[in-house]
Amino acid sequence: MAPYVLPDLDYDYGQLEPVIIGDINELHHSKHHAAYVKGTNDTLEKIAAARDAGDFSSIVGLETTLAFNLAGHTLHNQWWRNLSPDGGDKPTGELAAAIDEHFGSFDGLRAQLNAVSGTIQGSGWGVLAWDPIGSRLITQQLKDHHSNLSIATTPLLVFDTWEHAYYLQYKNVKTDYIDRLWNIVNWADVTARFDEARAGVNGLRPPAPQG
Ligand SMILES: [Fe+2]
Repeated sequence: MAPYVLPDLDYDYGQLEPVIIGDINELHHSKHHAAYVKGTNDTLEKIAAARDAGDFSSIVGLETTLAFNLAGHTLHNQWWRNLSPDGGDKPTGELAAAIDEHFGSFDGLRAQLNAVSGTIQGSGWGVLAWDPIGSRLITQQLKDHHSNLSIATTPLLVFDTWEHAYYLQYKNVKTDYIDRLWNIVNWADVTARFDEARAGVNGLRPPAPQG
């Protein structure tokens, strides 16, 4: 089985400026995201070794480490594609209608997701998600990468609020960072995820071309 790999980005590190400076994106992609990829591959090797040895005494810790790293890899795959140098503005069509239905208005969603993202205690993610059980949009507040999650949902738009995502530029003013993210949201990508999720497809979508 092929190991997990770090995806290439669709844009250069500096192209999300001035919202996110290039130095942050370079560290975030080449160090932090890369570490989650390596952590996933390393942990799967350790689980395989435990299985081969017939000794699962370390499986609880390994499963926790796998969940942390694989969810981190999955979320960062989406993070890079949820953003675009050509992003911003507002969604249109059925996604816009669904946002109006479930949040009252686009401004309602924006205020709610800002609050969700800005109040996480510790590290985590603010998420706009599709819930197939209720056939509706909801927001979620993920802790770390994998906690506080409703299992059936599909993330459509994810805001990384780990300090590594903003501190070099915004320091302790996380609310400014979160509010400016809306200027680079790739609504074409979010809409594609919305359409796939509603169709019952695994809305996580394949990662970007890898290299
Ligand atoms: Fe991150």
